[in-house]
Parts: sequence; C-alpha cells; structure tokens
Amino acid sequence: MTSALTSRPGRLMAAEIREQPAIWRNLLAHGGAAGIDAAAEMIRARRPRAVLFVARGTSDHAALYAKYLVEIRHGLPAGLVSPSTMTAYGARPDLRDVLMIGVSQSGGSPDLVRSLAVAGEQGALTVAVTNDVSSALARTAHAHVDVLAGPERSVAATKSYTAQLLALYLLLERVRDVDGRVAAAPLPDLGDALLARADEIVALAQRYRFAQRMLTTARGYSYPTAREAALKLMETSYVSAQAFSGADLLHGPLALVDPQVPVLAVVASGVGGAAMGDVLPRLAERSADVCCVGHPAAVADAAVGFTLPDGAPEELSPLLEILPFQLLALHVSVGRGGDPDAPRGLSKVTETL
Ligand code: F6R
Repeated sequence: MTSALTSRPGRLMAAEIREQPAIWRNLLAHGGAAGIDAAAEMIRARRPRAVLFVARGTSDHAALYAKYLVEIRHGLPAGLVSPSTMTAYGARPDLRDVLMIGVSQSGGSPDLVRSLAVAGEQGALTVAVTNDVSSALARTAHAHVDVLAGPERSVAATKSYTAQLLALYLLLERVRDVDGRVAAAPLPDLGDALLARADEIVALAQRYRFAQRMLTTARGYSYPTAREAALKLMETSYVSAQAFSGADLLHGPLALVDPQVPVLAVVASGVGGAAMGDVLPRLAERSADVCCVGHPAAVADAAVGFTLPDGAPEELSPLLEILPFQLLALHVSVGRGGDPDAPRGLSKVTETL
C-alpha cells in the first residue's frame, strides 16, 4: 500500500537534492576507492592528445563541464561525441591517441556502451564515470570511476549530476598530479549552507509558477549549469526552457528576449561571470525579467536573484550553482500540481540510438 508520505509529489527529488553535500563529503573521503586513482594512473601512462566524451541528457552536461576542465586546465582539445556517429552511422575514426570518457548515471544506455566499445576497438583508452559499477558501461571500459551517489530513484537526475561533476573534477585533477580534494574541501559545507536557504527558492518558484517559456544563460564553466537548469525545468515543470551560452545569446537568440520571458542568468565569480558583463546590459536594454544566480553584486543588479555562497573556486562553482535550479524545478513542478519524481513520458534509463 502507498502511504501518504511515499506518494507526496517530489518527495524523492527533494530528498536527493538534500543528500548532495553528504555525497560530496563521501566522495572526497573515498575517491581513491571509487577508482579515481587507478583510472588517473592509466590515463597518465597513456598520455592522450585529445579527450572525447560520450553521454546523454544530464550526464552530457557533466561531460560538457569536464570538457571545459580538459581544455582550460590540461590544454588538450576536447569534444562531445554524438553516440550515433559510431553506432547508427558506423563511423570508425582513428582514436589511438584519444581518451574517451563515457559519463552515465545508470551505465545502461546501449548507445553509450556501444560507442565506448567501438572507441576501444579503434584504439582509444576508455573510462566510464558512472553511478553503477556493475553496469555494462563500466564493464566495457578499460577503467571505471564510481561517482558514489547511491541509488537515484527520482526520474529527474540531481545528486548523480553533482557527483559526476565532482568525480570528473577529481579524476582530471589527479591526471595532472593535483589533489583536487584540497580545493573541493569547502564544498560540502557551502552546499549545506546553500540548501538551508531553500525557502528563498520557494518564493522564486511562486514568481515563475505560470511561466511557459524561460531562457537560461551563463558562460564558461557555468554554461553547463544553464543547460542543466533548462533541462530540469523542461522535464519536471514542462517549461519550454532554452539554454544559451552568454556569447551565443548575443548572436541571434537575443531577439527572443522580451519582458514576458524570464531569463535565468548564472553569474558566478571568475572569468565566466565577468564575461557575463557583456550580456547583462543587453538583456536590460530588452527590458528582460532577469533572475540572477551569482555573486552578491550581480544579484543586486538583477530584478530578483539568489546569492551563491562565497568560497569555491570558479571551476567548482557549478556544483553549487545547480542546487538553486534543482530546487526551482522541484517547486515550480509541485506548485503546478505535477510530480517531478515521475515526469510524463519519461523513465530512468533511456535507450536511444
Ligand atoms: C534528466 C535525466 C536524463 C539522463 C539521461 C542519461 O534528469 O535523468 O537526461 O541524464 O537519460 O541517463 P544516464 O546518465 O543513466 O546514461
């Protein structure tokens, strides 16, 4: 029998959002056991000249974050591969100098598994970053990393996303012989402090309760946050949300902006946030209804916003930035009478090609 408690809409998603700082703490304490050190050793030994990622949905946004890390901190070319090129189209690129990282919560999407298998046949070193180390993806890869998020039951991925971000960060830092746990150490406490302010997001959700369309935007390391925020709003609240990098927004999509379309902008401290300085005045010219998630000065300039806690370096800020958007998606959905744990037409593992 289903109790009133178990059937409360969004119960699973709310619990999984709250769990995140504890998951980060655990991953920081047990990253070695999660396979990070072994995978990093294997990558260092192979000295890849390029890194490709293969992933879908939320995991693809974690991969996009890691692409920024590789390009900026390793100075290597990096890209996101469409699984269909090697599966449906049968492409067989020469991947002998390449590291291919498959990112997947379930490790079960057949197109990812097949892509990683083909990449291995084509000479790539393959690594799976997954929440299920018994999965086909983990078994297919040369090495695997466990993101240690624990079972994720809400259809909308939340805790697996930030666990993927942190695992990818720790792995990629370890590859360049840096102990990422030092810079990441403050994150769990900052996350707890942020989540203690969930009431602020409940008020924001009220503001956007009837929104049909939204835009999200950010630059640099925060761009994956804009993408993931839009996905969460689409799948849980059925908001038609489109994400643009702040740079791309100015090359056409700005015409979409009017006071009726709320714009959610991420303006964290650092290079990416500073680059948003070119974007925000253009939004103001269009009388945009801007909600800013970012540092205090940026939030003070916006109509509404949510201030991010200070203390995380720019490259780790995405772990914190996404939390208010996860809460926003949850509360907009519940406020509209939906159940974000079971969005219409979706199930946990996609089997797309
Ligand atoms: C969104 C979501 C999906 C998954 C996607 C990939 O909240 O959960 O977009 O991220 O279906 O699934 P995995 O990561 O299991 O390969």
